[in-house]
Amino acid sequence: MKTFVLSALVSTAAAFPWVVNEPGVDASLFKEARAQYRRQQAGTGDGGAATCPFNANHMPAAPVKAPYLYNNAKDGKQGNQKGGYQVPATGDTAHQFVAPGSGDIRGPCPGLNAAANHNFLAHDGIVTFNELVDAQQNVYNVGYDLANLLAVLGLTLADGDPVTQKLSIGCDATTRTSVNPALTGSEPGLDGHNKFEADSSLTRNDFFTHGGDNFRFNGTLFGYMTQTTGANYNREGLSKYRLQRWQQSQAENQNFYFGPAALLLYGAASFLYELMPSGTHGYAPDLATISSFFGAKQNTDKSWSFTAEKIPDNWTNRVAPYTNQLVTQEILAMYLENPVQFGGNTGPGTFNAISFNSIQNGKISPNISPKDTACLLYQLATERIPSSLNGVITPTVQALALVATKLGPALANLGCPQPLT
Ligand SMILES: *[C@@H]1O[C@H](CO)[C@@H](O)[C@H](O)[C@H]1NC(C)=O
Ligand SMILES: *[C@@H]1O[C@H](CO)[C@@H](O)[C@H](O)[C@H]1NC(C)=O
Repeated sequence: MKTFVLSALVSTAAAFPWVVNEPGVDASLFKEARAQYRRQQAGTGDGGAATCPFNANHMPAAPVKAPYLYNNAKDGKQGNQKGGYQVPATGDTAHQFVAPGSGDIRGPCPGLNAAANHNFLAHDGIVTFNELVDAQQNVYNVGYDLANLLAVLGLTLADGDPVTQKLSIGCDATTRTSVNPALTGSEPGLDGHNKFEADSSLTRNDFFTHGGDNFRFNGTLFGYMTQTTGANYNREGLSKYRLQRWQQSQAENQNFYFGPAALLLYGAASFLYELMPSGTHGYAPDLATISSFFGAKQNTDKSWSFTAEKIPDNWTNRVAPYTNQLVTQEILAMYLENPVQFGGNTGPGTFNAISFNSIQNGKISPNISPKDTACLLYQLATERIPSSLNGVITPTVQALALVATKLGPALANLGCPQPLT
């Protein structure tokens, strides 16, 4: 997927008149020069290719093998979709925790980092589409539809490679993910800003307020999250905390952008109480469980520092699969408990709202139809989405081909518009 990185290049709309015609872009925003407001990274610096770890000895994920079959999800195919089992299984040495080394890439998503630390994903963090689909099913009992959707969004939105079907779960590893770097340009991986990763996430800094560090664990933020939720990371608590993070970013980050892809922030927040809780803790999203998945370690002065993301001891996963329908319901419910505006800062004290499908004038209506609800996340994979106030992500032919192969049947079943390839 190619992104228009206009960033510092755009001083006025007059220089790039086509921008104002991009879907979802509010033309009124371009009346003023906003040269100082950058939106996406330049491809250098923190998270860039130069500092990205390199492991010459890439080992693929350890496949599931009898007698430890988990959901028996292999090769990107649908598994049993039946959870309630222990992960990793006692005796399954292939999937025990191994802390990441200096050659291993980790990124903004604790759930994927934990899966890589247990070899359900390639330990060096260069993962394939099939590994992503298998690991989500085997570890977390994510439903097959949602596992595919998230993997497609990872490859397309986050800038993996739809041809090699490889993605870095952290920094820019283009030489290892791209089919041909000269053709694809840089593929920033999950760290890529305003794609999968976005401002106001639970425990990562905003890109522009922290010199591009939008992927490391921040113990202060983990502390805020714990305090605001009362260490009960349920929907109600996380909805409050998501609002708090939005307010913080809006106040502190002059480049704050909260676009359609921010829906994924609510999805990711729901993972804390839907995917992470353990049967051995009565499926409660409690501190012991969440701190282990986030790699959060409490110091004697009560502050939090980082160790490494680990599946908690004796952890048993959710029983019913977590499907597209379920996550979309959670996204809307969490959003509607404390609604915020979609859009971005365009100057000191100025916030501009965006519109995109069900998001109108920066808001999702509580009366959103069931069909629009079902298609909400698919639209992120199939349509051109405003990835910033002056940039749009347009799916490439390759990305749409991937969508057609991997998501076609789900889109057809739900009656969502299918992209023409
Ligand atoms: C962690 O987050 C806090 C609150 O947003 C921020 O003030 C601090 O600079 C961040 N620390 C690091 C090391 O990024
Ligand atoms: C895990 O289970 C084993 C065996 O039942 C038990 O000895 C151990 O204390 C448990 N550990 C945790 C952290 O619950």
